[in-house]
Amino acid sequence: MIQVAATHRLSIDCEGDIIAVRRRVRDIAELRKFDSFATAAITTASSELARNALVHGGKGVALIEEVTDGSRLGIRIVFEDEGPGIEDIPRVLAGGYTTARSMGLGLSGSKRLVDEFALESTPGSGTKVTVTKWRRF
Ligand SMILES: Nc1ncnc2c1ncn2[C@@H]1O[C@H](COP(=O)(O)OP(=O)(O)O)[C@@H](O)[C@H]1O
Ligand SMILES: [Mg+2]
Repeated sequence: MIQVAATHRLSIDCEGDIIAVRRRVRDIAELRKFDSFATAAITTASSELARNALVHGGKGVALIEEVTDGSRLGIRIVFEDEGPGIEDIPRVLAGGYTTARSMGLGLSGSKRLVDEFALESTPGSGTKVTVTKWRRF
């Protein structure tokens, strides 16, 4: 069973908020003694997903949770927006697809950087991406 030890809610309304999310995630990872690779991974994924919420979703929120499952400590982050949503989820997860003339590697790259990744989206009503990075006690 997963227990939530702390939660931090950050809104994503402007470019500066992406940096704030990135910084908060990095600070929590360092405080909780994630190694430098894991810290960089969850920080980079957070930055990409916060950017997607802003750029593609218009705005959104990041809910950062410090969790435990009995033998591991984790950082779970839920990114939610009420933007246009994603029509073809397999296509965006495959990578290389973009509607923003960028690299189209944010989602596929983020997925590889975390231990758990879930993307839920309803066209017309929004997108929710949940990622978790774990470390042993
Ligand atoms: N939160 C979101 N809301 C709506 N569409 C999204 C969202 N996140 C990603 N997408 C869609 O998935 C595509 C791929 O996203 P991503 O891999 O991050 O690449 P990029 O952001 O560089 O385009 C985006 O171009 C966009 O069409
Ligand atoms: Mg992106």
